[in-house]
Amino acid sequence: MGESVIPLADLRYVAPVPEVPAHPAAPIGLLADRLGRPLRDLRISVTDRCNFRCSYCMPKEIFDRDYRFLPHASLLSFEEITRVARLFVAHGVVKLRLTGGEPLMRKHLEELVRQLAALRAADGTPLDITLTTNGSLLARKAAALREAGLRRVTVSLDALDDAVFRRMNDVDFPVADVLQGIDVALAAGLTPLKVNMVVKRGTNEGQIVPLARHVRERWGAQVVLRFIEYMDVGSSNGWRMDEVLPSDEVRARLHAAFPLEPLPPSAPGETAERWRYRDGGGEVGFISSVTKAFCHDCNRARLSTEGKLFLCLFASSGHDLRALLRGGFSDEQIAGAVGLIWGGREDRYSELRAAHQAAPGSGERKIEMHYIGG
Ligand code: GTP
Ligand code: 5AD
Ligand code: SF4
Ligand code: SF4
Repeated sequence: MGESVIPLADLRYVAPVPEVPAHPAAPIGLLADRLGRPLRDLRISVTDRCNFRCSYCMPKEIFDRDYRFLPHASLLSFEEITRVARLFVAHGVVKLRLTGGEPLMRKHLEELVRQLAALRAADGTPLDITLTTNGSLLARKAAALREAGLRRVTVSLDALDDAVFRRMNDVDFPVADVLQGIDVALAAGLTPLKVNMVVKRGTNEGQIVPLARHVRERWGAQVVLRFIEYMDVGSSNGWRMDEVLPSDEVRARLHAAFPLEPLPPSAPGETAERWRYRDGGGEVGFISSVTKAFCHDCNRARLSTEGKLFLCLFASSGHDLRALLRGGFSDEQIAGAVGLIWGGREDRYSELRAAHQAAPGSGERKIEMHYIGG
């Protein structure tokens, strides 16, 4: 596929209708993929729209007024999403994360949260339900989300300085509103709250220490700040390796200002390496998909807004679960199809990239961040 000749908006990522096992005794229950990795985490994108235009995700030149976002009829309904989530929970999923685009732009999102919060893991425990947001609408929505059963929240925040922040979101959105959103979310009990900072060399690297200082002084250990290496997600952001600031370097700069010591992982398959301030000022994380791939125990699946199942953030195609949901198939049949899909999984893009077996930007067009939510 020649990238230049395909209008991005026409791209709906190849999505074969999954095979449904012939026998009802198809596997339901704990799964392992071809590399022995379990399925524990489902990331659910609820909209492909966003009110920001971060250059590393939705550059303005591409995501302009002419860009065709998904039409409403193609979105999964809240009932459909909850049905899929229930089947994934039966397969061992214990964590649900709502993403976008910007998830808080989906109308009445708290209703979806309420439905998901009623689900229980196989052992009867409540699920870890969270969302990743740009924070712009958080002050308005935090209390209703908490009341509906959201447990915690992660806020993307790439700078403390207002001018740098406005430049990075590229819609002139003020940082003060996001900071206020975090205050309100904490007051509503959405804790522990995480803040994600994507670090781009030459753009916001000067914000590492100021943002860390702000988090320590204002919120202390209630907020975990995580530094994310700029990744080659999708095919629109013009990713270049020289704009990646490796986590080791980020950590060295932070350590020089506030000495750090390592912490053990809190759960298998997590994205961040954990560290803490030696003075007890709280915890920080480093997400190093570029310099230190974490595919070996990746336990995440992704459901797109229109019901396609992707097994890797860097995949080029998904599996059309919506066709099954709307095609009259039973829960057992759909769960069986998911079992077959996960059982055949062998994705490990970041590891292959690191081993130079997959040249970034080559091959098929990858899914875009705004479509799959990270
Ligand atoms: P926690 O449960 O709070 O640890 O969240 P998380 O790190 O799983 O999710 P979040 O949405 O905060 O993602 C943090 C960063 O990690 C984002 O830049 C994501 O795109 C990236 N990320 C999440 N999962 C994966 C993954 O499986 N592979 C890669 N390469 N990056 C991921
Ligand atoms: N590289 C790294 N992180 C990214 N995010 C969005 N695009 C990229 C990218 N190219 C982050 C967002 C959000 C999370 C879901 O992914 O800032 O915190
Ligand atoms: Fe920025 Fe997140 Fe919106 Fe992408 S989805 S443009 S990263 S705020
Ligand atoms: Fe998982 Fe793919 Fe990310 Fe590797 S690159 S950790 S397989 S989503």
